[in-house]
This record gives sequence, structure tokens and C-alpha cells, in this order.
Amino acid sequence: MRTMKIGVIGAGLIGGTLASKLAVLGHQVKLANSKAPSTLTEFGGIDNLTTVWAADAVRDVDIVIISVPEYAIDALGAELAPILSENTIVIDTGNYYPVRDGRIPALDGGVPDSVWVSQILGRPVFKVFNNIAAPDLKKKGTPDRGNRVGLLVSGPDGDAKHAVFALVDQLGFEPVDGGPLEESWRQQPGTPAYCKDLDPDSLKASWIATVLDDVDEYHRNRDQIVDFDAAVRETARRMA
Ligand SMILES: NC(=O)c1ccc[n+]([C@@H]2O[C@H](COP(=O)([O-])OP(=O)(O)OC[C@H]3O[C@@H](n4cnc5c(N)ncnc54)[C@H](OP(=O)(O)O)[C@@H]3O)[C@@H](O)[C@H]2O)c1
Repeated sequence: MRTMKIGVIGAGLIGGTLASKLAVLGHQVKLANSKAPSTLTEFGGIDNLTTVWAADAVRDVDIVIISVPEYAIDALGAELAPILSENTIVIDTGNYYPVRDGRIPALDGGVPDSVWVSQILGRPVFKVFNNIAAPDLKKKGTPDRGNRVGLLVSGPDGDAKHAVFALVDQLGFEPVDGGPLEESWRQQPGTPAYCKDLDPDSLKASWIATVLDDVDEYHRNRDQIVDFDAAVRETARRMA
């Protein structure tokens, strides 16, 4: 395994879990939230993990993982776009939940969440780790390839996508090609395979059966969460 330098922006349920796991794997991880690095005390003492300001998390790294609510993307993207190296691979774990994020016209208009992020950053993005709940990301990874949960990875084909596949594999999940980023609506909240922890073949079959004609239904499924804070509390309870 090639050790990489990885910046993680967002130290919450998903970003914090990924940062900790990647550091344990031996990668050099820089982790940031929206505040000063000194606020991330719970990550003190983890080998290979340092806490930094968000702008420093994207400097001199091979991969940047953006794991923040969509309401933060406009401002964060404007801050990061000028300082992101074109050689850095960008991963977005984000999902649009209007009940949490407020209405974002581009996303309501049908632009896939991570295409919008890619447009704001002005560069390619890979969407992954968005369709597994944080407790399952924390607990279900396994080196046993015959017994794995599949995770969709969408984004442009090429070496960078292979690097993202390798990262998913190292975390104990089976990467499943989710096509170009323009297809990533197929892995957004409310779609049939969303957070179902399917095996790779079932995940691919479900992805194929996810169709544009049903997008309104997927959005209705997504919007069934009316108390987002309660959902977060339940997710956090399951992290233990
Ligand atoms: N929770 C899940 O199970 C899950 C699963 C898949 C995907 N997702 C998606 O992944 C993203 C992250 O979810 P989460 O559950 O990890 O969120 P979370 O627990 O609420 O954590 C969000 C993190 O983002 C940081 N943040 C917010 N605005 C920022 C900014 N401008 N600059 C830097 N950091 C900023 C927050 O820092 P502060 O504390 O300083 O505000 C916090 O550390 C969301 O889009 C979510 O929908 C979540």
C-alpha cells in the first residue's frame, strides 16, 4: 500500500471516522473543521493525524476529502478553489438535505449534488462514502473480499479513480463503479440502494435499476427525514 498525504475537511461523523481510519492505516492525515485546529481535541494522540485549519488541509496533499453539509459548500469552495493543486484528487462525501441545508436552487433544479460541488471548485470530484451511514462506515469494513459491503464511486475514469478505488478497498469496502460524476444522482439520498449496505453485485443491480423517471420519488424518500437533528442524534448513538 502506498502511503498518501490526505486532507480531510469536516471532522464530524463521516469526516472524523474517515480521518481516524486512514491514519490508523498509515496515511498522513490532516483534519480540519470550521474552527481552529485546537478545537479538535478528541483527535489528539492519534498517530499520523494532525489537526489544521481548513486551508492547510488542502496544501501539499495527494487527496482531499470534503465532508461538510451542503450549506457550507459555497463559502468553503470559494476559499479552497484558488489553493487546490490540480494534482490533488478531490473526494466529496456530501448529500443535499433541504431540511438541513435550506433550499439550494441548482440542486433543486436537478444538478447532481457533487457536480455542483465540482462546479464550485472548478475541478473534477469523486463522489464516495456518501451512501453509507457513519456507524456502518466505522464498523463494517473487512479485509474479507467475499463478504464486503459495496460502495459506489462516481467520477471521471483514469488513474485518479483507481486511487479512490484503492482507498475504498483499504478501508475494507468493495468499490463499485458508479460511472461519471454526472451519474451520481443514482447514489444520492432516497435512491433504492442508499445506505442499504448491499453487497457489490446487488449494489450494481440496484444502481442500474435507479432511473430518472423515479427521481421525484427519490426526493420524497429523502424528505421523509423531517427532524434532522433527531436523525443525527440516532446516528451518533449508533457510533458507540
Ligand atoms: N452522517 C452520516 O451518516 C453521513 C453519511 C454519508 C454522507 N454524509 C454526508 O457527509 C457530509 C458530512 O456529514 P457528517 O454527518 O459527517 O456531518 P457532521 O457530523 O455535521 O460534521 C460536519 C463537519 O463539517 C464541518 N464544517 C462545516 N462547515 C465547514 C466549513 N466551512 N469549513 C470546514 N469545516 C466545516 C463541521 O465543523 P464545525 O463543527 O466546526 O462546524 C463538522 O466538523 C454531509 O454532507 C452529510 O450529508 C453523512
